[in-house]
Amino acid sequence: MKKKRILTGDRPSGKLHLGHYVGSLQNRVKMQNSHEQYVMIADLQSLTDESFKSENILEIMKDYISVGIDPEKTTFLLQSQINSLYELTFYYMNLVTLGRLERNPTIKEEILQKGYKDSIKAGFLCYPVSQSADITGIQADVVPAGKDQIPMIEQTNEIVRKFSQQYNSNCLREAEILLSDQPKLVGIDGKSKASKSLNNAIYLSDNEKTLREKVFSMYTDPDHIHVHQPGKIEGNVVFSYLDSFYEDKEHLSELKENYKKGGLGDIKIKQILFESLRAFLTPIQNIRLQLKDEDMISILKNGTYNANIEYEKTIQEVRKSIGIYSFD
Ligand code: TRP
Repeated sequence: MKKKRILTGDRPSGKLHLGHYVGSLQNRVKMQNSHEQYVMIADLQSLTDESFKSENILEIMKDYISVGIDPEKTTFLLQSQINSLYELTFYYMNLVTLGRLERNPTIKEEILQKGYKDSIKAGFLCYPVSQSADITGIQADVVPAGKDQIPMIEQTNEIVRKFSQQYNSNCLREAEILLSDQPKLVGIDGKSKASKSLNNAIYLSDNEKTLREKVFSMYTDPDHIHVHQPGKIEGNVVFSYLDSFYEDKEHLSELKENYKKGGLGDIKIKQILFESLRAFLTPIQNIRLQLKDEDMISILKNGTYNANIEYEKTIQEVRKSIGIYSFD
């Protein structure tokens, strides 16, 4: 049976952190064996929220490779270098209304978060259309992503249906979102999810000193003042990270019991977490050290070339379906 095709991606807005690892990277390492996987670095999308920095492209490539996303199994591509995406997006613009774009819950949330209010750029409002081009152009069956991406997939599938109806064509396919079964990793401050903008994340490339500082500054249980007092596990950041990164689950439940009973101190659990994160990050960082810029570029260039062949097939069909004039 033919493997299903996956497209996932990230905006290159900064280096990747443990939240990315838990939420998507580890899944990509797995899915590359069962699926035909494409991973897009969405540099055009990072232009729409002004997080664009081209230096981040190589850093992210190093993050991908060092955690085990394998270029022999996964195709990496750089969004801005796929010409048909600009064209597809332009065609799709005629299949969506402004009202529909304004109702997108993720967009609404971002407008609030970023304080755009009265100065919403057209490019920003329309990025879901550009993302629909990313997904449909490669003929993706599955898009593994977080809940915030549900509206993007809905928008994509609406465009596909509208296109099929309007041009009486079946050259585009609908995609399915695959939601991660992992809860979002919380930030070290315990307030919300780990994120670059909130400055509360541990990066895959953080050195030992930074890692130690971050782990020891983690939010625990503010009422747990003395070691002998009972402590709370819920909302305790150290335990949520241990849940994700501590291998010995049996020992972890014992630690939790001890902490709840009283007698286990914050310093002790932080030391345990620090050690296990260090053991997790060290091999990743050792691989990262050996990665050369020119190799990252050639992997990305190669992948983009191969992905482009797929996008070109779609754009030819799309032009034909719409009836775009051709000189040939
Ligand atoms: N919107 C995604 C994010 O913010 C990035 C992205 C762009 C993407 N194009 C995509 C994800 C296509 C999946 C498929 O992280």
